[in-house]
Amino acid sequence: MAEQLNNGLPSGAVPEPVIVRTERRWLFAMATMLGLMLAAIVLTGITQMLNPVSDVETINPATLHLQGEFVESNLGSAAEPDGSITVRIIAEQYMFVPQCAVVPAATSVQFRLTSADVVHGFFVAGTNTNAMVVPGYVTTVRAKFSRAGNYEMPCDEFCGFGHHAMAARIVVVPKEQFKNLAPEERMKCGAQ
Ligand code: CUA
Repeated sequence: MAEQLNNGLPSGAVPEPVIVRTERRWLFAMATMLGLMLAAIVLTGITQMLNPVSDVETINPATLHLQGEFVESNLGSAAEPDGSITVRIIAEQYMFVPQCAVVPAATSVQFRLTSADVVHGFFVAGTNTNAMVVPGYVTTVRAKFSRAGNYEMPCDEFCGFGHHAMAARIVVVPKEQFKNLAPEERMKCGAQ
């Protein structure tokens, strides 16, 4: 039997100091990876504005069309006194009202959405603008579009049999062109 002694240990056994050193190195490597991943989450969250909503606004989904901010005449794109744009949209089975909103490029846009029935999704394709639209709550999302163009806005939260056909559109036009549009042209995108 060739059991050779290695500092008093059987052959093949690893001495304790070596185990401790190896484990400490692994621990350090793991902690570094965790730290890097956490830093990536925090940094992308800050630089790309991927933040959870910080305020909760409630609204009665049963009276949206009767009173308050989301009456039909108040929907779509509206210019604020400070030059920013507010877009108000209602999501319902299976459409967005309005079906299209026009916003100017390179301008701060605040989207305000709410649902008349079930949970829907608000997603502007090709951007990081993505949020859930929950009945009883107002979803607020800020965005800025640097390039003019048509942006599809499909519902990205399963909401029933008609979910696949539920979509709207955001049309981004140059700033100067937006100024010349009448309020109804902003809402309907007819002239694009
Ligand atoms: Cu609305 Cu899916």
